[in-house]
Amino acid sequence: MKKILVMGGAGYIGSHAVKHFVQEGYDCVVADNLVYGHREAVPQGVAFEKADLADPSSLEAVFGKYDFEAVLHFAAYAYVGESVTDPQKYYQNNVAGTLNLLAAMKKHGVHKIVFSSTCATYGEPQYTPIDEKHPQNPINPYGRTKLMIEQAFGDYARAYGLQYAALRYFNAAGAAADGSIGESHNPETHLIPLVLQAIDGRRPCIKVFGTDYPTPDGTCLRDYIHVEDLASAHRLALEKLDTFSGYVNLGTGVKTSVKDIIAAAENVTGKKCPVENAPRRAGDPAELYAAAHGPAETVLGWKPRYMQIEDIIATAWKWELNRRY
Ligand code: UFG
Repeated sequence: MKKILVMGGAGYIGSHAVKHFVQEGYDCVVADNLVYGHREAVPQGVAFEKADLADPSSLEAVFGKYDFEAVLHFAAYAYVGESVTDPQKYYQNNVAGTLNLLAAMKKHGVHKIVFSSTCATYGEPQYTPIDEKHPQNPINPYGRTKLMIEQAFGDYARAYGLQYAALRYFNAAGAAADGSIGESHNPETHLIPLVLQAIDGRRPCIKVFGTDYPTPDGTCLRDYIHVEDLASAHRLALEKLDTFSGYVNLGTGVKTSVKDIIAAAENVTGKKCPVENAPRRAGDPAELYAAAHGPAETVLGWKPRYMQIEDIIATAWKWELNRRY
């Protein structure tokens, strides 16, 4: 059986994809530089190779060792704030590194890629809900690096026959339902783990970044999508690549405010969350949510299984109480 290379498969979303693909009978090889990834997040029995997008010889070693049918590409730096203060790190890894990966694929005759893109490629929304036709004007280097790669895909498809799906995630959230793997960033910047850690007494409080947005409760609205639903979308996208290349939003279409998240986390855990109101965080749009029933559903045949924020948070809580890494 041909193999699937999961680049960045030790990271948050990548590791959940590996788990899903293995469950569905795929033979995965994980490659990761372990800068932010966790070796413990890779299931036992799955081949692991330490490789770095910045080091073409490490990619060559991996592509020389196995016969790949396709690549799932999760390996990226993803701190929006850091991308502003250290853009070189982002352009080198996310753009130049991905071009190294595409070069290795081309050399070894691997034509299929499913790529982690982001709703950050849209920038400040001109309208909501956001569909795939929404103009792309990213407002930070992180979003720009992802957009550049999306654009390269189109050119590589025309010139070299690349078959690609760029999946534009909204807010990835939650953990494996069995509690075996979950979100572990250092530093952690994402709302749900921070709220749960504040509830659990591991942080003094959650700071709510802005309570004066033009939204019903004054806090930002986001579209939280369960990481296992992202994983299944990658499989459906991969299985459609012979007939479909393109760009697909992955969200539920449900808008959830920061205050909603705190209330839902209190419901799930049965505990109060210590809250402090804080100024707006630079670069946060008031609302970001996906148009439901777009190509994810009509082309890929995907439907998110987690539509209730409490259910998403419950998986994250299970993980927080029993983290292995
Ligand atoms: N928030 C707080 N307090 C915190 C952390 C976050 O109030 O301590 C708020 C943010 O202001 C935002 C919401 O919670 O309104 C969600 O913030 P996250 O940092 O969890 O997620 P973002 O929406 O900023 O980021 C996500 C992805 C990024 C992607 C971005 C696109 O994590 O990779 O969406 O806008 F770039």
